[in-house]
Amino acid sequence: MKHSWWKEAVVYQIYPRSFMDSDGDGVGDLQGIIMKLDYLKELGIDVIWLSPVYRSPNDDNGYDISDYREIMDEFGTMETFERLLLEAHKREIKIMMDLVVNHSSDEHPWFVEARSSKDSPYRDYYIWRPAREDSNLPNNWGSHFGGSVWEYEETTGEYFLHLYSKKQPDFNWENPKLRRELYDIMTFWLDKGVDGFRMDVINMISKAEGLPDGEVYEGCAFGDGNPYYSNGPKIHEYLQEMNREVLSKYDLITVGEMPKVGVEQAKLYTGSDRGELNMIFHFEHVTVGNGQFGRWSPMEWKLTELKTIFNRWQYGLKEDGWNSLYWSNHDQPRAVSRFGDDSSEYRVLSGKMLATCLHVLQGTPYIYQGEELGMTNVGFEAVSDYRDIQTVNAYRDYVEAGKLTHEQMMNAIHQRSRDNGRTPMQWSDAGNAGFTSGVPWIAVNPNYKEINAEQAVNDTDSIFHYYKKLIRLRKEHKIIVYGAFDILLEEDEHIYAFTRSLGSERLLVLCNFSRDTRLVELPEEFQGSGKELLIGNYKINSATERSEESGSLQLLPYEARVYRVTV
Ligand code: GLC
Repeated sequence: MKHSWWKEAVVYQIYPRSFMDSDGDGVGDLQGIIMKLDYLKELGIDVIWLSPVYRSPNDDNGYDISDYREIMDEFGTMETFERLLLEAHKREIKIMMDLVVNHSSDEHPWFVEARSSKDSPYRDYYIWRPAREDSNLPNNWGSHFGGSVWEYEETTGEYFLHLYSKKQPDFNWENPKLRRELYDIMTFWLDKGVDGFRMDVINMISKAEGLPDGEVYEGCAFGDGNPYYSNGPKIHEYLQEMNREVLSKYDLITVGEMPKVGVEQAKLYTGSDRGELNMIFHFEHVTVGNGQFGRWSPMEWKLTELKTIFNRWQYGLKEDGWNSLYWSNHDQPRAVSRFGDDSSEYRVLSGKMLATCLHVLQGTPYIYQGEELGMTNVGFEAVSDYRDIQTVNAYRDYVEAGKLTHEQMMNAIHQRSRDNGRTPMQWSDAGNAGFTSGVPWIAVNPNYKEINAEQAVNDTDSIFHYYKKLIRLRKEHKIIVYGAFDILLEEDEHIYAFTRSLGSERLLVLCNFSRDTRLVELPEEFQGSGKELLIGNYKINSATERSEESGSLQLLPYEARVYRVTV
């Protein structure tokens, strides 16, 4: 397997709005990030993925961009950005920008121009259609944020397409002039010295000709357009062109966010001779337990479901292509609440267990801000405490339409709202968790007195120090990056167990995803006393070590262990 720096790296995602506020306006900013670079250096990460910092009216917190070459006023100036880049590079931390080019903001000058007249030179930068004769809309697709994907524009009497909010009109990638403009924007940032891109919903940029109606599923008011725009007909052509024109000229880290993608398609996106991207984010594991209304009807899920997904991706990209590994991000609930156990008894243990499992799979691990502290979901009481457009619209669409009761919806929001991941970073037990001296744009999770960075950095037994150790181990043991993956105990509903192999080295990874104590039979190579414990989340010394009886080992609740042997 080809070695690359981005395979060996650990990425840390910053959602700037919620990371650190330096000027007391209640919104995180670039100067705040600069102030915390030493914290990230101590953690040991290699790359920061910055969620969007471009100028934006913030309908979707920066994922609606009105100027791709300017910094959002609340976040600072271009000068502060350049200082951030310099200070990060000084510490050998790279910066990966978010690139949102499936759509812009409706306040982008191109769209303002485009909507003013059918003859505007920018008209064709976006997707316009008249209503069909047999309906009052151009087609039946539903938007990801509720309602139709079509919004009527009175001045010109046509509709424009928006897969997300109506303030996020989709670009028309068919237009080569538009593509050239976007490549120039990418070059602008790369020439400033940024080190790569995380590409927002990039597999949605090519729409099928004719924009055919989608299937209407039970309980849905609109059709599902996904088959006609996810991994659309020209997607590979566009990505290869982007690679030729821009990416190939630099040594970058690139990751494409791709809802509705499977392993076979991922091979095409990430294959080393394909000239597209380094890796992608798929969504399969973060949708386990989704019910009829997706994340808004959360259900129980089984560990075997989760393992089947991970295993498929591990084996699928083993020869070629590369995995990205994540439990959470700004669109997902907190890892420990979603996949672990956020009770006071098991939060720390399960947080460390999840970290172990993810960082020792094959792929590039992504840490979302606060995950290294074991930050948890927040259970705001009122819908009015939520800020996320997806959450607010979904409450309107499901409760007001009578599909879910208020109680059902609040339960779903508490489990799955994107705002769970967006409450401010908990830096200390000072007011507002040390995030701001003003009024935070979204309330701080009340548990910041116990869960915060100051506490975690001072406690060598914290989740923070455990992440630090995992990151260090990755640098010391190439097998963690490049070793071949093999599954063990495939049917087990409590334990995720697998091995990694490189040359004569083997790793055994054992993760107990349950509150039960389980007995696990060890593979022969790992029986006896010749193995080295690389990391584990329980304190083990010869007095407390549980004896291995006839080749079996007892795993305590949420216990994780990684053993190493040479054969
Ligand atoms: C991606 C982003 C999400 C945003 C959406 C539309 O999924 O991660 O936050 O709302 O794209 O840009």
